[in-house]
Amino acid sequence: MTVWDDTRARLAGQPGGGLNIAVEAVDRHVAEGRGQDVALRFVGRHGERSVATFAGLSADSGALADLLGQLGTRPGDAVFTLLGRVPELYVTALGTWKARAVLSPLFSAFGPEPVAQRLALGRGRVLVTTEQLYRRKVAPVRDRLPDLEHVLLVGGSTGGVPGGTAFDGALAQGDRAFVVPRTDPQDPALLHFTSGTTGTPKGAVHVHEAVVAHAATAAGVLGLRRGDVYWCTADPGWVTGTSYGIIAPLVLGATSVVDAGDFEARRWYELLAAERVEVWYTAPTALRMLMRAGDELAGEHDLSALRHVASVGEPLNGEVVLWGARVLGHPVHDTWWQTETGAIMIGNPPGEAPVPGSMGRPVPGIEAAVLARGDDGRARVTDGAVEVLTDPDQVGELALRPPWPSMFRGYWGAPERYAAAFAGGWYLTGDLARVDSDGRFWFVGRADDVIKSAGHLVGPFEVESVLMEHPAVVEAGVIGKPDPVAGELVKAFVTLRSGVEPDEALRADILAFGRRRLGSVAPREVDFDQNLPHTRSGKVMRRLLRARELGLPEGDLSTLEGVS
Ligand code: WT7
Repeated sequence: MTVWDDTRARLAGQPGGGLNIAVEAVDRHVAEGRGQDVALRFVGRHGERSVATFAGLSADSGALADLLGQLGTRPGDAVFTLLGRVPELYVTALGTWKARAVLSPLFSAFGPEPVAQRLALGRGRVLVTTEQLYRRKVAPVRDRLPDLEHVLLVGGSTGGVPGGTAFDGALAQGDRAFVVPRTDPQDPALLHFTSGTTGTPKGAVHVHEAVVAHAATAAGVLGLRRGDVYWCTADPGWVTGTSYGIIAPLVLGATSVVDAGDFEARRWYELLAAERVEVWYTAPTALRMLMRAGDELAGEHDLSALRHVASVGEPLNGEVVLWGARVLGHPVHDTWWQTETGAIMIGNPPGEAPVPGSMGRPVPGIEAAVLARGDDGRARVTDGAVEVLTDPDQVGELALRPPWPSMFRGYWGAPERYAAAFAGGWYLTGDLARVDSDGRFWFVGRADDVIKSAGHLVGPFEVESVLMEHPAVVEAGVIGKPDPVAGELVKAFVTLRSGVEPDEALRADILAFGRRRLGSVAPREVDFDQNLPHTRSGKVMRRLLRARELGLPEGDLSTLEGVS
């Protein structure tokens, strides 16, 4: 029996071998007499508190599933959300799974361009948002969304929104006793967009069976147990916020703290103390910002309830691990995974002192390796075969052996991109890593041009495409500029149309244009460059731009990872 079978056997399941995430997350607890337990503790922007019980979530999500059916949603259709961390987001997620539809949560800080791209790619017919977010992010691009029929507005008011309905009123029409139909474990449940080096965002598809990996890893790697007070700081617009912010804690019967507010050092310490958070899953950028805020601030708060602290999403410096031990009372336990892997693949388990700087070891049930690289910096594939590096500390492309329950089952509508992610029986992650003689994995860098800013993946192509729509810009190259807190900042180099004068006013205008169209993924810096370097095939050489930015000699590109 594999570790996955073992976890699967402890889930409720449905008659006839069915498995549905929402049944495991809420209905099951109600059936077993825990309906009145608190599932979610909401903290509003101004500190207002409210709670949702498992029974409340079960009934509300049933009503939403029934409503989706009334709106003509069929199993496999994508239901999009564009919401902050509000109760309706959680009800929509669970209701979508009950309806056997596919949840695609969008990050509410995205601008209209990333929103339009993803909604169009996913052919979204139903969107749950607020009137304010709709006006700012969807209305300007609605003409590019012919498939969008129904817009459910949280907080009401539908004036002038085509297809608009108030969320609450609509929910009241749904059957709260909705019975979840048998769901095949291989039915799609989640669509998370992620970015590559080129082309449109890729929609990674996960199935209901993924819940097995969420439950197993949250228990095994985060040490989460029934009744724990738990806080995952990630937004559900990103995969961590769904896998470990919605699904895993509900399935395990923990109580999650959900904060609608943004990061603020004092606010976060107050929340940890006031809610008596026991297990905390956060991100390196946030931890580095807390470090900056000073140890005295931490000392003013009672953090004695904390039992385990873990992080994900970007390299975790050893310094932060040690700071955690000293100031939070617990070393920060690094974990590694990706949108595509759906759940933690490598990590430092509780009860074992983490080696600062290491991502830890593959979780039970996962086989990981590093593969020899070819000229393009990615795993070298010869006649369909790859070479596993077996000597310690050799740098190669990090690869995982499929399958596992939360492995992505496709890129939405892009089978060729999915096929390209596998070689020689391995899934290729696009990360560079090494394995030490103790079998611990160490992150080295990305094998491609994708940017990691404050834990969020940014595709340079998506940003370049928008900048090139600015009337003064003919070409753009976008890179990640190293930053001590955010890891990387998005920086753009732009070539101006001939005759256009480069000055500060234009720079400010291009930055503002980027912010308006792209939102949170917009560049923070713009440099003018009338001689962008190009490859023989005419593509902007982002690696050379990055070398210049880092002050590396331009001729010595071989010192940059991933460069042939
Ligand atoms: C990329 C995946 C799934 C978590 C949220 C991010 C980087 C992730 C670590 C870590 C160094 C890390 C990798 C990876 N990353 N965790 N512990 N140390 N880098 O999911 O947005 O799909 O990003 O984040 O580069 O490939 P994502």
